[in-house]
Amino acid sequence: MCFIAGVWSSCAIMQVYCSLHHLISCSSLTPIQRPEMYIIGAQPLCSQLSGLSQGQRKLCQLYQDHMVYIGDGAKTGIKECQYQFRQRRWNCSTVDNTSVFGRVMQIGSRETAFTYAISAAGVVNAISRACREGELSTCGCSRAARPRDLPRDWLWGGCGDNVHYGYRFAREFVDAREREKNYPRGSSEHTRMLMNLQNNEAGRQAVYNLANVACKCHGVSGSCSLKTCWLQLADFRRVGEFLKEKYDSAAAMRIGRKGKLEQVDKRFNAPTPEDLVYIDPSPDYCLRNETTGSLGTQGRLCNKTSEGMDGCELMCCGRGYDQFKTYKHERCHCKFHWCCYVKCKRCTTLVDQFVCK
Ligand SMILES: *[C@@H]1O[C@H](CO)[C@@H](O)[C@H](O)[C@H]1NC(C)=O
Ligand SMILES: *[C@@H]1O[C@H](CO)[C@@H](O)[C@H](O)[C@H]1NC(C)=O
Ligand SMILES: *[C@@H]1O[C@H](CO)[C@@H](O)[C@H](O)[C@H]1NC(C)=O
Ligand SMILES: *[C@@H]1O[C@H](CO)[C@@H](O)[C@H](O)[C@H]1NC(C)=O
Repeated sequence: MCFIAGVWSSCAIMQVYCSLHHLISCSSLTPIQRPEMYIIGAQPLCSQLSGLSQGQRKLCQLYQDHMVYIGDGAKTGIKECQYQFRQRRWNCSTVDNTSVFGRVMQIGSRETAFTYAISAAGVVNAISRACREGELSTCGCSRAARPRDLPRDWLWGGCGDNVHYGYRFAREFVDAREREKNYPRGSSEHTRMLMNLQNNEAGRQAVYNLANVACKCHGVSGSCSLKTCWLQLADFRRVGEFLKEKYDSAAAMRIGRKGKLEQVDKRFNAPTPEDLVYIDPSPDYCLRNETTGSLGTQGRLCNKTSEGMDGCELMCCGRGYDQFKTYKHERCHCKFHWCCYVKCKRCTTLVDQFVCK
């Protein structure tokens, strides 16, 4: 544990944050021996974070209390990525200290697009919620306008998640490092920068657009004669599912004549700011490859009967699989007791498991 911006927090959060998106070493983020240096207002927090770009360092100094939420948000994004991709060859695993996702991010692939989007989404999510909870000095409850279609006798104005602030802050902070680079238009670095910016935006918009009205009933014995409503973030799982759909329909782009991204296949609808885009084809992630950073699928569990990506045929890339028997522990023979609890037994069954060669 270490002390960051006045909040006890795991050091890993900051490490995750500072290497987010970028192949920057966090090794200078040594275990913190002098926690007193990390109290709000003390400068060393921001200079200690080796992963920050120049613009981000300035923002860090101005908004020190935001930093821990940025780290939390990034972590939520990564966890969601791992959930969404748990049954795919590329499973969003984090590899080492030097970069969260490893060399795979050097390729401007769909997978890279997804990680940018989901991490930006995580940051919007965490900051918006922190505002509502009164954790940040520069924002509070949402001040979103009353939706037009809200029934007239419902009250508007409970303390809502401040997605507006979360969106704007994340745009400043996450995009800062892309925007401050000065790559020549049309260069491959510039193209990649445009890709990153678009995917960051898609992630932010997902959180912003999925936030919805939540209401609570008041009134005598649940009569619900009065309702109070406010703006509330969607469950982050929903954001993950939404972005996974965007991953499946991501648009292949290339650099156009004016140095802007253009769609490779113009027969499809042009991507909107909500859509993910990529510029490089994905590796197949079948074999371990140090150059591309692919971990390969050897040793991954697969499903013998599934014909999907989690099926042994696709997951193991035709290399075949080994079969194991393992014990699986489950809750079973559950009985409902009046009132109100459920009591279960623990059963152990022998199951077959399949693992890629
Ligand atoms: C990660 O950091 C730990 C401790 O700082 C170190 O022992 C380990 O070698 C590092 N791993 C990589 C892959 O850099
Ligand atoms: C790793 O991937 C690169 C790029 O796709 C390819 O050129 C190289 O042959 C691969 N190396 C191995 C050991 O498969
Ligand atoms: C993802 O795949 C890698 C490589 O096959 C494996 O080592 C790792 O345990 C997997 N991670 C998760 C979260 O399933
Ligand atoms: C394997 O795939 C089949 C078919 O999709 C599915 O019904 C089954 O639940 C899966 N088994 C496991 C252990 O996930």
